[in-house]
Amino acid sequence: MLVLPKGVRHIPHCLSTDAQRALVEDIRAVVADAPLFTPRMPRTGKEMSVRMTNCGSLGWVTDKDRGYRYQTMHPLTGKPWPPIPDMLLKLWEEFSGYLHPPEACVVNFYRDSAKMGLHQDRDEEDFDAPVLSVSLGDTCLFRIGETTRSGRTVSLKLDSGDVIVLGGAGRLCYHGVDRIYPATSALLKNGGRINLTLRRVTRPTVS
Ligand code: SIN
Ligand code: FE2
Repeated sequence: MLVLPKGVRHIPHCLSTDAQRALVEDIRAVVADAPLFTPRMPRTGKEMSVRMTNCGSLGWVTDKDRGYRYQTMHPLTGKPWPPIPDMLLKLWEEFSGYLHPPEACVVNFYRDSAKMGLHQDRDEEDFDAPVLSVSLGDTCLFRIGETTRSGRTVSLKLDSGDVIVLGGAGRLCYHGVDRIYPATSALLKNGGRINLTLRRVTRPTVS
């Protein structure tokens, strides 16, 4: 049996096919307002293989000069990001175990050859909140490790409709996407995979 690192939860088939279809429509509307762009690595300016956008009050972006950061505006249109779809806010309420809403939803789009190197999600102020991610479309091979880069890793497939939560001791686990399995889902008519990652960025103010 596959043992995931402590604090990492995989919920297979969390979303029904109908819910996945509705969510894809929501994401199409997000992308119509906040077009996909190609993120670039800090310093080298090397293009990442995914295309991305965001919804929420804050969006995660990266470019050569200013590196990884959150900002309120789309880097190309200069407009605020569109709101996070209700279905995602409900998923967060159900599975995050965190009282405050997420502020950012990163939308990553993977074509057949795209991947994502092993990394930690650590650009947020608040690691008390988990990171919750939803997979849509083609299956991928996801790799998750420990909180050090050299730690042991395990690999699992993420299918369309699966949810992963990195919380508590698992919040800073290294993770990445080693490959996409093309044509494994009929959800997206032109294929590929969408990953939606919900994050709390700022620490809530105590009232
Ligand atoms: C990410 O870590 O930013 C994306 C993970 C995924 O695509 O499943
Ligand atoms: Fe990540």
